[in-house]
Amino acid sequence: MKTSGGSDAAKRRAGESAAAAVDDGEVVGLGTGSTAAHAIRRLGDRVDAGLEVRGVPTSFASRELAADRGIPLLDLDEAVGPDAPGVDLAIDGADQVAVGRGGEPTAGPLIKGGGAAHAREKLVDAAADRLLVVADPSKEAPVLDRPVPVESLPAGRTAVAEAVRTAGGEPTLRRAECKDGPVVTDNGNLVLDCAFGEIAEPSALAATLSATPGVVEHGLFVDLADEVHVGTESGVRVLT
Ligand code: 5RP
Repeated sequence: MKTSGGSDAAKRRAGESAAAAVDDGEVVGLGTGSTAAHAIRRLGDRVDAGLEVRGVPTSFASRELAADRGIPLLDLDEAVGPDAPGVDLAIDGADQVAVGRGGEPTAGPLIKGGGAAHAREKLVDAAADRLLVVADPSKEAPVLDRPVPVESLPAGRTAVAEAVRTAGGEPTLRRAECKDGPVVTDNGNLVLDCAFGEIAEPSALAATLSATPGVVEHGLFVDLADEVHVGTESGVRVLT
């Protein structure tokens, strides 16, 4: 699993803070990445201590970790729909969080997909009544400016790259670090990391990317985060 950004201690504080917000009987979306993994481990400890929850994983990696920690699991198809329990909250990481310029930092739009799991993460996070984002201070920025991961159907890779250029971005096919070839998502697709510079209007860019044929999902998460738990070297700040 990819790790990035700040210290593991800060990530652990963030993950554990969000895991503490889970109540008995809830259905919890389980995010992907090194920070969300801390939340899953702490939830596992709480299950050992008697907490009754069910988790909805957002990736193969989060499913494996949660199963290993004894967290009962549901597929999203079992969690939503008629007579289904719904998803009470989701806990997920982020690659960048826009906290605004000046004034009180707020839980703004996110860039996700550093672990290539953003399609299922968005499904689960959007289905949840509340999304708690877990991050360390290296993820905070006044305005989003990191490359946006765009999951593309393999056959659409060149057409999607052209559409990204037309929208003002520079796409780079994500390559596997330890293998000679592209990253392939849990859904069998490719990822283009698309640099747009500062993203002044995330909603507009999100709409453009969503409307592009061949795009399965992109990593702009707009109006989804309810709280951001930022772990620091000494504690946790919660942005709303
Ligand atoms: C995976 C993600 C992760 O949540 C994001 O990459 C953050 O990971 P980490 O907590 O390891 O920094 O979006 O697709």
